[in-house]
Amino acid sequence: MTRSSSPTSAVLVTGGASGIGRASAEAVAAEGRPVAIWDLNADGAVDTAARLAAEHGVPTTGLGIDVTRSAELAAAVTASRAVVGSFGGLVHAAGVVRAQSLGGLDDAGWDAVLDVNLRAFPMLVQALLDDLSAAEGAAVVGISSIEGWIGNAAIPAYCASKAGMLGAVRSMAAQLGPLGVRVNAICPGFIETAMLAPALSVDGVAERFATSSMIGRIGRPSEIGEPAAFLLSDRASFITGQSLIVDGGVLAQT
Ligand code: NAI
Repeated sequence: MTRSSSPTSAVLVTGGASGIGRASAEAVAAEGRPVAIWDLNADGAVDTAARLAAEHGVPTTGLGIDVTRSAELAAAVTASRAVVGSFGGLVHAAGVVRAQSLGGLDDAGWDAVLDVNLRAFPMLVQALLDDLSAAEGAAVVGISSIEGWIGNAAIPAYCASKAGMLGAVRSMAAQLGPLGVRVNAICPGFIETAMLAPALSVDGVAERFATSSMIGRIGRPSEIGEPAAFLLSDRASFITGQSLIVDGGVLAQT
């Protein structure tokens, strides 16, 4: 059932073939909004889009695209809009992590992480700007991380990219607020997705992550997708320029 408080315009979800992006797309489709899913994984994007259309009866489209290719974003918006209609929301969940600490850092690893997690974010907003500024109740959500707040020695580029997203959120919120567009971040803690799988396969890590949370477990992707849908909805109509930590209390007891 569509909640009366939610805008009805389409939402673009990057990284929507997997994990947190897929869960965000599900939560948005469950509120009756059309969804475009963009992901490097073209089959995953198309499959997820088809499943959401079947389950929720909303227009959807899935596209294989590298979101770091800024020059291709405008054409991708045009192609997606032709299927789902004009955009009033964005969730930037596409992201990568490279375990490279000082001594092992290289330009390619640094650029790969900064390009997807950080640089693509304002470029995506820019590509959607005409739609967002024309939509009622438009909003943007960037999936940052608790690693944007704390120092993880193994992943300096990732920490920088996620902290950088919070600065980009505040800047874009200031620019777009007068146009009626809200911009926020979510900072997830440890969430069970493909990205976390390599870490979880190391002995003792799953237990350490679980016990670092006040509620004693790792999070589910839907536990980020639901807050993302909330921040996109009119239920969050006075929230902008913020970062919402959704980590089961990890940071509160660090
Ligand atoms: P995931 O690996 O399941 O999903 C990431 C998706 O992004 C994949 O489908 C991948 O194909 C896509 N992607 C990567 N590079 C892309 C590119 N250049 N263009 C288009 N799509 C691209 O990972 P997960 O965990 O769902 O991550 C989603 C976001 O949440 C990421 O930004 C991640 O940094 C963030 N995050 C994840 C946490 C976790 O514990 N899983 C914790 C905090 C933040």
